[in-house]
Amino acid sequence: MGQRRKYQVIEAALADTRRLLGYKLRAEPEIHLNLKGFDCGWILDSVAWRPGLRVLDVGAGYSWLPIYLAREKHCEVWSVDDFGTWDSDPFWERSRDPAEYIRAHPEVKYVLGRLGEDRGLIFPAATSTASTAPRLWSTCLWLGSPTYGRIWTACCARGGHMLHAIDIAFPTSRGAAHVLLAKLFDVLYLLLPKSVQTRFLFETPLSCVRAALRALGAPMRGVARRLSVVDMVIDPEVAVEPLEFTLNRLLKDGDARTRHFRVGSVLIHVLKT
Ligand SMILES: C[S@@+](CC[C@H](N)C(=O)[O-])C[C@H]1O[C@@H](n2cnc3c(N)ncnc32)[C@H](O)[C@@H]1O
Repeated sequence: MGQRRKYQVIEAALADTRRLLGYKLRAEPEIHLNLKGFDCGWILDSVAWRPGLRVLDVGAGYSWLPIYLAREKHCEVWSVDDFGTWDSDPFWERSRDPAEYIRAHPEVKYVLGRLGEDRGLIFPAATSTASTAPRLWSTCLWLGSPTYGRIWTACCARGGHMLHAIDIAFPTSRGAAHVLLAKLFDVLYLLLPKSVQTRFLFETPLSCVRAALRALGAPMRGVARRLSVVDMVIDPEVAVEPLEFTLNRLLKDGDARTRHFRVGSVLIHVLKT
């Protein structure tokens, strides 16, 4: 069987307000009306979670999601994150002590490290693992795109469902002309040198999806349909991070001068059988 036949792209789309409201209305846990709320609602909605299902949450940090999956859905949950060891983000300075947090949540098996970067991380070698990585964008962006591909290949080594929700800045953040450039980038993508594709990986939702599928060797047919940059900026149903959420974080970090960027979430769900 060829490599391509092993993968099924179940969804490649942008987070939308209609689904967010649906998750809020019917979800068991608390789903906040922001992108993190969407990402968690989407992940919970996308897989038939069942007792014993092995889950790897990549970049969970202090998220309630792995704890919820372990406690309420009785999954076997693993979480890999280095809790900011390599990171100068002020978020980690005002956060809890990771060791204390890990001790307080024995239902989740925490592995300290970075998937795709650290060697020797130990997980169960099963094929039924689901991996979830809400909101990996910022660190992926800082570390550069090779990490992005490596995270996907490291996840796919385990098989099962791969669900990643990746923060993406709106192309309008840098003015109207940038939207046209972003559109041109998507249209000419296949003709561009790999170095240019890689350099602008996070500029458009479609290029995030293409880079992930390319890393896996998964089929790309049909993925462009719901990922146009023009739709992203004109469709009022595309979900945007609420002002309150981002500005509050900037204030907490003592960085009130930083410009606010509109941010959306690209959803990628691939099944490896
Ligand atoms: C924006 S935070 C999101 C935390 C959590 N998923 C949530 O939604 O609340 C991104 C997290 O990804 C982690 N991270 C970044 N690169 C990683 C990698 N290669 N492997 C594991 N975790 C990673 C960071 O340490 C951080 O906790």
